[in-house]
Amino acid sequence: MTFAGKRVFVTGAATGIGRATADYLVAEGAKVLGAGLDGDDGKALASRYGESRLIFRESDLTREADVQAAVVAAQERFGGLDAVVNCAGIYPTGKRLEELSDEDWDRTIAVNLTAIFRVCRATLPLLRATGGGSIVNIASVHADATVPGVPAYAATKAAVVGLSRQMALDYAVDRIRVNAVLVGSVATRMTLDGLEAAGGAEALGLSFEPNRIARIANPSEIATAIGFLISDAASFVTGSAMQVDGGLLARLL
Ligand SMILES: NC(=O)c1ccc[n+]([C@@H]2O[C@H](COP(=O)([O-])OP(=O)(O)OC[C@H]3O[C@@H](n4cnc5c(N)ncnc54)[C@H](O)[C@@H]3O)[C@@H](O)[C@H]2O)c1
Repeated sequence: MTFAGKRVFVTGAATGIGRATADYLVAEGAKVLGAGLDGDDGKALASRYGESRLIFRESDLTREADVQAAVVAAQERFGGLDAVVNCAGIYPTGKRLEELSDEDWDRTIAVNLTAIFRVCRATLPLLRATGGGSIVNIASVHADATVPGVPAYAATKAAVVGLSRQMALDYAVDRIRVNAVLVGSVATRMTLDGLEAAGGAEALGLSFEPNRIARIANPSEIATAIGFLISDAASFVTGSAMQVDGGLLARLL
């Protein structure tokens, strides 16, 4: 797949899956506008490539003003957008529903769901002006099957799938495809911190061994799947919830 000439907005681009996606797309010829927290990592990423290939804007995407500023930058620097990848997210663990404060609940909804709504709302006009495009929203296996202690996270990831499916219908008329990715366990700080808290990978039935189904993925393996959904090779793929989970959801025990 080549992404030459494609202009892609990637949220959560400074770290983890977002960063791997930015690296992959730039390596294959895309221009990337990265937005998110973790500004030092974002700046390091930008300086590696130079502004003609990757721009990073430190942005709290729960703030409408930050979303707007990042999208204005995409318009000014790239002259528009061809694709959007919503990767930014948080994974608060260890509390059952009764233990969640309003603030806990609202924060998870704000980052994992409302920020996607805001980014899509702000970028859809740019994709439409391009004549069409692709939006990829990063959900999780937690949309379908989950673990104890993550009520808000599981709710947001199921909602991301529903939102993506619905948007696919409303925006087909604009030639904008919208897909969700049900990501399994990936070796980023989000999972590695969570695994430590849960007592290690084996306690969750996961393995780091490279030849096992339901092993832990390298972030680059999610990036290539995202790349497929962005690419013209996926021209008939919209409204899907694509599992990229090493067979995790296929496991009974
Ligand atoms: N790592 C996994 O195993 C896994 C599994 C399923 C789904 N996911 C999803 O993948 C996505 C990326 O996670 P990751 O594993 O790369 O972890 P990560 O912690 O490395 O990445 C999360 C990114 O989101 C950004 N972010 C958080 N709050 C933000 C905010 N308010 N505004 C802007 N940016 C914000 C962070 O700066 C960070 O770059 C998340 O949506 C996560 O839910 C991850």
